[in-house]
Amino acid sequence: MVAKKEIGPTGRPERFFAPPAKLAKHGPARIISLCNQKGGVGKTTTSINLGAALARYGRKVLAVDFDPQGALSAGLGVQAHDVPTIYDLMLGSVKDPHDAIQTTAVTNLDVIPANIDLSAAEVHLINEVAREQILAGVLRKVQNEYDVILVDCQPSLGLLAVNALTASHGVLIPLACEYFALRGVALLIDTVEKVRDRLNPALELDGIIGTMYDSRTLHSREVLERVVDTFGDKVFDTVIGRTVRIPDASVAAKPILDYAPDNAAAEAYLKLAREMVVRGVVV
Ligand SMILES: Nc1ncnc2c1ncn2[C@@H]1O[C@H](COP(=O)(O)OP(=O)(O)O)[C@@H](O)[C@H]1O
Ligand SMILES: [Mg+2]
Repeated sequence: MVAKKEIGPTGRPERFFAPPAKLAKHGPARIISLCNQKGGVGKTTTSINLGAALARYGRKVLAVDFDPQGALSAGLGVQAHDVPTIYDLMLGSVKDPHDAIQTTAVTNLDVIPANIDLSAAEVHLINEVAREQILAGVLRKVQNEYDVILVDCQPSLGLLAVNALTASHGVLIPLACEYFALRGVALLIDTVEKVRDRLNPALELDGIIGTMYDSRTLHSREVLERVVDTFGDKVFDTVIGRTVRIPDASVAAKPILDYAPDNAAAEAYLKLAREMVVRGVVV
């Protein structure tokens, strides 16, 4: 009897992604922005949990909170008030990123926090020389100390997003498997291409991650099918399922890996980390 090959949610046969080999040395980091101008699609959740998963595999990870809402900082339980933040580094009032970097309860995972101050950055930076390159200049100073730097962008395509894309080697787009998911993605891809043409020729689309997938609904399956039709192999095999344990984990200020290690989403984020290594997106 021939075993029936399992078909994954993207319509491809399920692949096995082996755990990555240990790294003998660290850095320089690949800088990856998590970008989508739509809110609530899983940018912050993916920054936290992909970061924690890569850290679990021994990668040294820096997560940069680049959203004035500060959800990444809160979700990892780091102090974001009365401490140096990414805003201070962008403005140059704090020069050394080490003064803003905080360790977290997760081994190998550090954070540069953000708070509401960052909402003033676009106005303050508008007249700066090379205003699109400011974040790149900040991250360059610590790039050799990490294997991966994840930049959790705010839901907009303004100057901060352009700074993130200009600083990055790659962009990851989380897409919620919901009806209006594809709206706006063309504009996002357009922005990525403009930044590549004008500011950062090396910028790559590292991949698209289906999030909040609910296999019980035809709707979720159809949206994911459309995404795969449009973006093909750029869509990760790994899909993140919808589970209430994710918002619960963020209230507890922990990655799902630590909050509910047996939950399917914890395994999904570990699998995403393995897939990224197998695809060569990260070391
Ligand atoms: N896989 C998931 N299942 C259920 N809820 C999720 C999932 N991923 C994210 N969420 C929740 O959805 C909301 C938006 O997610 P978030 O990561 O903050 O999106 P973004 O950063 O794109 O705005 C949050 O409350 C988060 O806890
Ligand atoms: Mg967010």
